[in-house]
Amino acid sequence: MPTLFSTGIEALDKVLPKGIPRNSMMILAGELGTGKSVLMSQLLYGVLKRRKEPCIYMTFEGPPLAVEQDMESFGWDIAPFLESGQLRFIDCFSFRMEPVEVPSYVHYVKDPRDLHSVTSALFNMMEEMKMSGRGAVFVDSLTEMFTLVQEERPLVFHMLDGVKSWRAKGPKEKLVPFFCSHHTPLRAYVELDDLLFYVVDGILDVRFNPGFAERGLLVKQFRVRRMKGAPHETYWVTFSVTSRGVTEVELPVPVLSTERSRTSRKK
Ligand SMILES: Nc1ncnc2c1ncn2[C@@H]1O[C@H](COP(=O)(O)OP(=O)(O)OP(=O)(O)O)[C@@H](O)[C@H]1O
Ligand SMILES: [Mg+2]
Repeated sequence: MPTLFSTGIEALDKVLPKGIPRNSMMILAGELGTGKSVLMSQLLYGVLKRRKEPCIYMTFEGPPLAVEQDMESFGWDIAPFLESGQLRFIDCFSFRMEPVEVPSYVHYVKDPRDLHSVTSALFNMMEEMKMSGRGAVFVDSLTEMFTLVQEERPLVFHMLDGVKSWRAKGPKEKLVPFFCSHHTPLRAYVELDDLLFYVVDGILDVRFNPGFAERGLLVKQFRVRRMKGAPHETYWVTFSVTSRGVTEVELPVPVLSTERSRTSRKK
């Protein structure tokens, strides 16, 4: 049985009391702005700081510098880990502007539209960093990777093949968990969502509570929809993003319109 890996995020550890099996491919799925990237950054910082293990962050949605700056705004300083080589980036974003200077801790992928070059960059780096039975890989986001890849075959099958081989070569063979964010629901990829969810080991859904969203209030929540090989609770945990990152909060008490009119009548 693979060892379990505690996330270090209090609210998440509560619903995954024994942690996540090391051989897991995890998806963090949710709408725009729900908190997927913050959750990934907080997980990353925990693995670096607390577990002192090597990490790779594959970025599709912004340059590595933006990730560094975002993390700094929470007080998570990753500069020492970049200097020591414990953290390295695979930059699949900057190909649009062809960067002149690339720091030593960044591997710049010249053409991320070619899935093979992305895959070989990832597994070569894992080899170089001796990631076997330790460390973690973060991908932000799979959706952006899907939009880039150009292929003759139907995209869905090509991408699923890619995800399946990543899962086999990373989490399953090397016991290095992968955390990948995925935007849902995007109409262009509904076909892919179900198949993708079927292929992976764990799914963390992140959402705005629909009842509150109807009233114009964005209340963030996550829940473990699926986690192979580890006990887990499946209720929705309400959270807020504070200066310390993701923190569990109480679900606000809804103000019913009848109550509101009653109080105003009393006045
Ligand atoms: N540095 C920060 N400081 C404070 N709050 C932040 C910070 N970064 C993000 N947030 C809050 O967290 C929310 C979620 O941000 P995040 O980038 O994690 O969403 P996401 O699910 O990754 O979105 P997207 O699908 O657009 O990538 C933001 O809308 C904002 O309210
Ligand atoms: Mg994001």
